[in-house]
Amino acid sequence: MLVVEKNSLTEEIEELVAHYGNDRASLLPILQDVQRKHSYISDYAQQEIARVLDIHPVEVYGVISFYSFLYSKPMGRNIVRLCQTITCDLQGKKAVAEAIERELGIKFGGTTKDNRITLEYANCLGMCDQGPAMLINDKVYSYLTPEKAVEILGEV
Ligand code: FES
Repeated sequence: MLVVEKNSLTEEIEELVAHYGNDRASLLPILQDVQRKHSYISDYAQQEIARVLDIHPVEVYGVISFYSFLYSKPMGRNIVRLCQTITCDLQGKKAVAEAIERELGIKFGGTTKDNRITLEYANCLGMCDQGPAMLINDKVYSYLTPEKAVEILGEV
């Protein structure tokens, strides 16, 4: 007799579907729970969620890419998001970004080797009158200068 063992991630997803229901409205809470536990939503998890909800994997990926708080790749323990929208751009975002990249030795979109920090650009953080602004996890930092940004990162 052939015994097929279920992957634990598949079991976890099936449990979430049993909890939230198997319709489209369950997709977002399921994604949030998977991410909370694994810190990102792997390709395998995306495919399993699509299979169990009987939707196309592209739909799952579409939701992940729509929401900036959902990730399809592993992220660092701290996520730094520098505002790239025009007001912050005009207030010196470029110099701040360059100082941050130089300090951490990575480009925006990357993660430090020790997994401490992931750098990302964000759109307006609602602090346009206090730019340039950045978000580290859920804390906002404003009136950044290159020096101030580097100092803040040293404390993360
Ligand atoms: S444009 Fe940067 S916070 Fe609004």
